[in-house]
Amino acid sequence: MRYVVWRVAVFICAASVPGYWLLLAWQFALGPDPGKVLVDNLGQGALVLLLLTLGMTPLQRATGWGGWLAVRRQLGLWSFSYALLHLTGYLYFLLGNEFSRLGEELRERPYILVGTLGFIGLTALALTSNRWSMRRLGKRWKALHRLVYPIVIVVLLHMLWVVRADAGRWFLYAGIAAALLLLRIPAVAAALTALRSGKRKFAIKPK
Ligand code: HEM
Repeated sequence: MRYVVWRVAVFICAASVPGYWLLLAWQFALGPDPGKVLVDNLGQGALVLLLLTLGMTPLQRATGWGGWLAVRRQLGLWSFSYALLHLTGYLYFLLGNEFSRLGEELRERPYILVGTLGFIGLTALALTSNRWSMRRLGKRWKALHRLVYPIVIVVLLHMLWVVRADAGRWFLYAGIAAALLLLRIPAVAAALTALRSGKRKFAIKPK
């Protein structure tokens, strides 16, 4: 029951954003092609949530506060949910549910295949994010969930392929992902924890 307020806050924020976008799209407040804007926003939302998920462990190491870890799994599942909505939006708005066109689409837009790879990875992580899978997979669970880093790289490639000429936002996301990858290096992670315990020591008044 600890950190329940934070869990509820994450739930409310993550659940309301797509609803808000949908409402804007419905009222044609997202420009002349609301379907495309909706798909783009959901894709970016999925990426941001994925990066937030990865940021929780370094934040816990740096601050020692357990609340970051309490919402980590929830953020990961929201990233998957946004990706699922992004895929559904693509099939409905951009493909117009004409599944016979999929082959031609994949030839014209190969980045869809790259996105699909990222989505398959996210699905595997979401399906095995429960305690039962953790127990069943044992040590292999950690190895499987380390796949989140290659998944981020795949998704960044997918996005770069789409935005190409207008890659300003992409560099921002790629920079954050690179910093998060750096923080995974054991020596850097240990330095982060040591920094916190050093701070704590510093806070103890000498007798
Ligand atoms: C089956 C899987 C996927 C399909 C079919 C797919 C499809 C697409 C399409 C068609 C676009 C370009 C839309 C346009 O014309 O503007 C796009 C962009 C994008 N997708 Fe995906 N995608 C998939 C998976 C993912 C996943 C798993 C993520 C993130 C976790 C993601 C993140 C993005 C981002 C960030 C963009 C760029 C949005 C922008 O331009 O602002 N996609 N995707």
